[in-house]
Amino acid sequence: MSLPQRPRAVVTGAGGGLGRALCLELARRRARVIAADIDLDAAEITAAAVRDAGGEARSVACDVAQEAQVEALAEHAAQAFGGTDLIVNNAGVAVAGPMAEIPSADWAWIMGINLWGVIYGCRAFIPRFKAQGHGAILNVASAAGLLCTPEMAPYNVTKAGVVALSETLCSELKPARIGVTVLCPTFFQTNIIQATRSRNANHQHVAEKLMARAKIQAPEVARVALASVDAGELYSLPHADGAWAWRIKRMSPERFYQKLVPRYFKRTMER
Ligand SMILES: NC(=O)c1ccc[n+]([C@@H]2O[C@H](COP(=O)([O-])OP(=O)(O)OC[C@H]3O[C@@H](n4cnc5c(N)ncnc54)[C@H](O)[C@@H]3O)[C@@H](O)[C@H]2O)c1
Repeated sequence: MSLPQRPRAVVTGAGGGLGRALCLELARRRARVIAADIDLDAAEITAAAVRDAGGEARSVACDVAQEAQVEALAEHAAQAFGGTDLIVNNAGVAVAGPMAEIPSADWAWIMGINLWGVIYGCRAFIPRFKAQGHGAILNVASAAGLLCTPEMAPYNVTKAGVVALSETLCSELKPARIGVTVLCPTFFQTNIIQATRSRNANHQHVAEKLMARAKIQAPEVARVALASVDAGELYSLPHADGAWAWRIKRMSPERFYQKLVPRYFKRTMER
């Protein structure tokens, strides 16, 4: 089911990177947007950019790891625009490093934002979507949720969880006319590296290079993601390399993890 004209959308993590790009893409549709972020000043910069681009927007402070704040966000949207057509559970962070070196506190931090944040977003908006008879959920996962590469265990686990949640909800919510899309990009340039808790400086350096080299950057990722929502697609994979690798994994998962991934990881880290 396509988004309505001038959709009413809520975007978490909207203060920068992909969240801001999604808000600007929504502004092209003259959408009414709630730009939510843990950093209110950054969210307000996005909201102002949406207004400049012809949309309507408000900024809201919201830490997605706090269920009460996500519930308040849904209520804010209901009061501001009379409801919500699209929730984008986008806020996310990264943790990198060898498994044995990652402290439990970093696991708890990333699980709170990347996984619980998405769960809270779904819990807050699904009852409202059911009551109004329609709605769309765009969960931002990552290719990391489909293709688990080394030294990214916490990130991979949270993103695989978001994929599993989205797959479950896709069929569960179909009778209620609620669409579910899970976005799984590879690399593109944002501020995510600056906020990453990493135990491997080389890992950060390599990720930065891969981001800079990406053929598809945040505005195009946002455009593809919203087109997938419109098309009612469950999986949205904007990058060709991610789509290709996912196909290989599904054909031969054993060979993928035993041979191809170790070889790819070694070569990438040596670059
Ligand atoms: N950049 C990439 O290469 C890439 C690839 C695949 C998936 N993703 C995913 O895209 C999403 C957006 O990340 P990005 O790359 O734009 O990063 P980013 O760091 O540029 O933006 C993330 C935003 O989330 C906000 N945020 C952080 N913690 C929050 C919290 N607890 N509550 C609310 N907001 C919070 C930050 O303030 C920031 O504005 C994430 O889910 C990320 O995992 C990014």
